[in-house]
Amino acid sequence: MKIFIDSANIHEIREAASMGILDGVTTNPSLVAKEGKNFRQLLDEIVQVVDGPISAEVVSIDKDGILREARELAKIHENIVVKIPLIKEGLKAVRVLSEEGINTNVTLCFSPTQALLTAKAGGTYVSPFIGRLDDISIDGMELIRQIIGIYQNYGYTTQVLAASIRHPLHVVQAALAGADVCTIPFKIIDQMFQHPLTASGLETFLNDWKKNESKLV
Ligand code: G3P
Repeated sequence: MKIFIDSANIHEIREAASMGILDGVTTNPSLVAKEGKNFRQLLDEIVQVVDGPISAEVVSIDKDGILREARELAKIHENIVVKIPLIKEGLKAVRVLSEEGINTNVTLCFSPTQALLTAKAGGTYVSPFIGRLDDISIDGMELIRQIIGIYQNYGYTTQVLAASIRHPLHVVQAALAGADVCTIPFKIIDQMFQHPLTASGLETFLNDWKKNESKLV
């Protein structure tokens, strides 16, 4: 499973990239707005740090507006993936962009029918939002399993990108379900490293070593 960071914060992105585990980045208008930077400049910075797919979202909701924004975003760098909302006008644009060879990430997916339509339109990625479904007492992970099942039945190549991840267990469940990608906030990437037995075990090893005369160099 590929790991993307779900962030528009350049410090978080840089830190996650330095861990050697990062395959890409996803942003959304809310994450970008939080940074208070020019969108273009921010994307220029991100493409310098991560050599992998970087999702940048359009804010138009009509086909022509989406296409205009998408083509501008795609010009910035070959790694830019245009993030498009899962609405009728969005999927019309995805079909055109797919024929132009522009990669897309179809976002705000909350149902298997939406995911099926995304694959038919030629989306590169579909982003089901796990946490937001859990928030309203619907099992978000079940949606991931349903989409993977449908895509496997027909050999659709659209990649399933588990989004709206709220805790490390979501990451484990997405990996067990066979999601192609999981996009994870920085705090949760950090939590994935942690285990109390690793911390206490290391402390013991280092304390014992101090009592030992032997040295490697
Ligand atoms: O980037 C899309 C998604 O990951 C948003 O997550 O936590 O705002 O539901 P969240």
